[in-house]
Amino acid sequence: MNNFTFHNPTRIHFGKGQIATIASEIPADARVLITYGGGSIKKNGTLDQVLKALENHTVQMFGGIEPNPTYENLMQAVELARREKIDFLLAVGGGSVIDGTKFIAAAIHFEGDPWTILSEGAELGKVVPAGNVLTLPATGSESNSGSVVTRRETRDKLAFLNPLVYPRFAVLDPETTYSLPAGQSANGVVDAFVHIMEQYLTVRDSAYVQDRYAEGLLSTLISEGPKVLKQPEDYQVRSTIMWAANQALNGLIGQGVPHDWATHMIGHEITALHGVDHARTLAIVLPSLMEEMREQKAEKLLQYAARVWDIQQGSEGERISLAISKTRNFFESMGIKTRLSDYGMTQQDIPILVDQLERHGMTALGEKKNITLEVSGKILRNAL
Ligand code: NZQ
Ligand code: ZN
Repeated sequence: MNNFTFHNPTRIHFGKGQIATIASEIPADARVLITYGGGSIKKNGTLDQVLKALENHTVQMFGGIEPNPTYENLMQAVELARREKIDFLLAVGGGSVIDGTKFIAAAIHFEGDPWTILSEGAELGKVVPAGNVLTLPATGSESNSGSVVTRRETRDKLAFLNPLVYPRFAVLDPETTYSLPAGQSANGVVDAFVHIMEQYLTVRDSAYVQDRYAEGLLSTLISEGPKVLKQPEDYQVRSTIMWAANQALNGLIGQGVPHDWATHMIGHEITALHGVDHARTLAIVLPSLMEEMREQKAEKLLQYAARVWDIQQGSEGERISLAISKTRNFFESMGIKTRLSDYGMTQQDIPILVDQLERHGMTALGEKKNITLEVSGKILRNAL
């Protein structure tokens, strides 16, 4: 196990009725900006609960943060926040709203061009504190330090990580997720699954705690994921998914172990160029990456096959192949297609995606930094 220092400062309020806690989480004299997306929080009653909790606060609103939030739109919120001297942000929504709000928090007092926060990982000065009410379990953004923002003009979808943007608090009330369309619930399960895989499916070493924790989360998503499609208002199922997606990317399982974020990096380019939902890009790339890297990852793939899928019979090669096809079938069983061609992409799109990876410096991905542009190209071709 490698050395690590782990500190996750986000306070989590989990369970029904917990939206009321934001009244005491946000200072009474704060000037609050509530940020949200296309309006789902108005329809499902979440916004009403938030406004009730904040009835004694000074509150303004910024709506319209889109899935895969854009820099251009977020800068409107930055200008509003500067004008109105906002000193607390409350994101109410899914990963896009929370990511967008992290960027707004970082940009308000940033001196210079805020795009460099993403393009160069520029150092941050004063960051406006923020909390959130999560309505879509998927990204883990509610209690991590990451944010992904797209520049519409140039189709750059870039991430930044900074401990200063950890949310102060996150409210996870599973009842807010009852209204999710099946496709978004499925996206959430697949995104969380792939987050775990990218911190797990690398090399076999002595990280027993991280491995068993990751395997437990994967098994949980496999058993509970399909239930969420059939029983969207089952509190226990929704709770399990919400907590699993949080644990998948709150930093814990990734401590002290190698990572391989190639699936995400390749997936981001597919979203930037073709507008495919984030989780769907991962469902396309991961099975193909597992196949392409099967020799390098053989030991961990065998462990995954045995412990997560209970595959005990057959040669090593057969067990690995079965684990890959079970992974693909799991995504498909969630209603998520796993081929580029399912989304209308062809051979001709691949060189353009590879060029984007090159432009973004994604030329040496994976735990051994050997997923070169050539390998990424192969992964994409095999995903057609
Ligand atoms: O905009 P509204 O009307 O709220 O509708 C949203 C949106 O259309 C809807 N939705 C959310 N909660 C709902 C709901 N509809 C009904 N009932 C509810 N309770 O769902 C749609 C998708 O929302 P979005 O926030 O875009 O989805 P998600 O949470 O999957 O976030 C995806 C974004 O997060 C980034 C992705 O790249 C993508 O931009 N990621 C962020 C990460 C991080 N910060 O650590 C890691 C991830 O890997 C990921 O890259
Ligand atoms: Zn993701």
